[in-house]
Amino acid sequence: MTKDLLSIADLTRQEVDALLARAAELKVMLRRGARHQPLVGKTLGMIFAKPSTRTRVSFEVAMVQLGGAAIFLSTQDLQLGRGETIADTARVLSGYLDGIMIRTFAQADVEELARWASVPVINGLTDLTHPCQILADLLTITEHRGGYEQVKVAYVGDGNNVCHSWLLAAGLLGFELAVACPAGYRPDPRIVERARALAAPGAPRITLTEDPFEAVKDAGVIYTDTWASMGQEREHEARVQVFRPYQVNRSLVEAARGDALVMHCLPAHRGEEITDEVMDGPRSVVFPQAENRLHLQKAVLERLLGGR
Ligand code: CP
Ligand code: NVA
Repeated sequence: MTKDLLSIADLTRQEVDALLARAAELKVMLRRGARHQPLVGKTLGMIFAKPSTRTRVSFEVAMVQLGGAAIFLSTQDLQLGRGETIADTARVLSGYLDGIMIRTFAQADVEELARWASVPVINGLTDLTHPCQILADLLTITEHRGGYEQVKVAYVGDGNNVCHSWLLAAGLLGFELAVACPAGYRPDPRIVERARALAAPGAPRITLTEDPFEAVKDAGVIYTDTWASMGQEREHEARVQVFRPYQVNRSLVEAARGDALVMHCLPAHRGEEITDEVMDGPRSVVFPQAENRLHLQKAVLERLLGGR
């Protein structure tokens, strides 16, 4: 594995499979109460330029469980917020920390941080990608379906960071992905192109459509995310109007396979991209999905900070 985890496309399929297998082992070990502390004495810095519940708490708990410590660093409090450069911040923090997790706006800023940091850098979400989320989601799918290869994933909604990481994952790992987005809210064509370029010849198709019913046909996973991501709050009302036909509700779920899982990276905007009935219904795995962030990220931290 490279020093950093900046995008799913940085990994090989073998590395993804190893992380998923290790995360499953770590989950069993935790359930059994086994002590496993390979990161004693190690510290992860967690830089946040945007809010977070799952990413912040799961990374911090992951470090505690692995025997290390985590420090929450808001960009509002760091000198970074007053103009200290990313390159200088990276070199200073590398003298204290054993790893840096960052959630920010520009993917280029995460890449810049990784370039100057001598310690591993982990992308905890940018406007472009959210790799830890999709890796954890693949763990959830694997737990429920025994693997991800034969599963068709239907991503319904905004062509955003989460959608981009799904595209890259589908290309890298070779599962079928159908993305349904309204016109004007499609994923970045460069990411679509990259995902298709990653795909092996003969791999299942990556398709884009405006029709959510077409996307969910034969799907084993229906996945959605907020219609207005962090930083797009002012577009919220306009987006709700455009995205209404893309709501994951009972009729959309009924158009998928009878055993389709419903997934959402959370936070959910109940009544917008997903109804209460579906989110709290029998097909929903959203809470086990959120828990898996912890287990998957422990595997990532063990690998990048522990050299395992
Ligand atoms: N899914 C996710 O990354 O959630 P947070 O924004 O709460 O970290
Ligand atoms: N697309 C969402 C994901 C939140 C975890 C956002 O960027 O706000």
